[in-house]
Amino acid sequence: MSHILVTGGAGFIGANFVLDWLAQAGADSVVNVDKLTYAGNLKTLATLEGDARHIFSRTDICDRDGLDTLLRRYQPRAVLHFAAESHVDRSIHGPADFIETNIVGTFTLLEAVRAYYAGLDETARAGFRFLHVSTDEVFGSLDPDDAQFSETTRYAPNSPYSASKAASDHLVRAYHHTYGLPVLTTNCSNNYGPYHFPEKLIPLMITNALTGKPLPVYGDGLNVRDWLYVRDHCSAIREVLLQGTPGETYNVGGWNEKTNLEVVHTVCDLLDALKPKAQGSYRDQIAFVKDRPGHDRRYAIDARRLERELGWKPVETFESGMRKTVQWYLDNQVWVQDVLSGDYREWVAKHYAV
Ligand code: NAD
Ligand code: DAU
Repeated sequence: MSHILVTGGAGFIGANFVLDWLAQAGADSVVNVDKLTYAGNLKTLATLEGDARHIFSRTDICDRDGLDTLLRRYQPRAVLHFAAESHVDRSIHGPADFIETNIVGTFTLLEAVRAYYAGLDETARAGFRFLHVSTDEVFGSLDPDDAQFSETTRYAPNSPYSASKAASDHLVRAYHHTYGLPVLTTNCSNNYGPYHFPEKLIPLMITNALTGKPLPVYGDGLNVRDWLYVRDHCSAIREVLLQGTPGETYNVGGWNEKTNLEVVHTVCDLLDALKPKAQGSYRDQIAFVKDRPGHDRRYAIDARRLERELGWKPVETFESGMRKTVQWYLDNQVWVQDVLSGDYREWVAKHYAV
């Protein structure tokens, strides 16, 4: 039986990836390596219970011995690296975990994979890939008239999160250049969809709206993000794994530039239609709050390389993806309640206190 090894497969994108991967006919088994931080949740993978093709290991990517053991035992044909500390606001309050997981963890994983790769026979080496899942935030912030980020845009990370991801991208690049590790890197825009932790904009707005809380919009609400439905990101990663050229990077985006206010209005309007309040609109709950320090003004991805070279295009429009997402949250309130742990409540109390 062949395997792929996925790190961070209990988080938002990693879990969507694992679910989509195993839904394919004849898919390799997945060795899912996750530390289960506050952002990791095995309930997301509940439908895989008893499925022998999903092997879960609670392992920190900073644990070299643990990684060596898993690589030796399962001999994966590819490693897909999703694990990270991923929330910008948390990186501003406490960057240490971001340095540890995103930089030291990626380095530890690369070292383990380098040793594993060196021990493979020629055929296995020829097919092996290390795919690093990264972000558009490494490119910094755009002005309104700037061209979108391309694969050759200069790195200019502005938050501890994006700086730690940029560092990990550079390490991945160096392991190709220096050691010949067959790496692929994807730099993706903002994802949204099912199983998104409710500290991030869209699920936070849905959750707060439904519980009658304020919808906290930072600054003037006119910062722009480029939104991609998470399952489109997963299909892009599968394409890059299958057809990407080792050593290359691929930008992934949804061609959906929206201001935060437009996004919040969309959430409110969908909720007004799908679960109307007794009185008024969910828009009445919008509250402008203090801005995020160093808040990047605009991200936008030029995803033409992925389309031109690998034939990938997103399937969902912003409208269809948002409708599915809001409906998913309405149908899955039990999952939401499960993730709203003590840790999450403490975070909200600390971060949104004026
Ligand atoms: P997430 O925070 O939802 O999930 C991260 C997962 O990694 C969790 O399951 C967590 O338990 C695990 N993890 C954290 N530290 C770990 C460690 N030391 N060892 C093992 N596991 C650990 O993140 P996400 O939104 O699913 O993002 C996944 C990846 O995609 C990240 O690398 C992120 O930088 C990147 N990315 C995210 C977005 C987005 O919009 N969410 C966009 C582009 C790129
Ligand atoms: O661009 C890709 C990145 O997208 C990923 O690399 C990150 O892991 C992911 O978290 C996301 O980062 P953002 O900072 O863009 O996402 P977030 O959901 O935190 O915020 C989106 C926008 O909404 C941003 O401009 C800040 C704003 N915002 C966010 C929150 C949580 C608010 O106005 N209010 C809020 O309460």
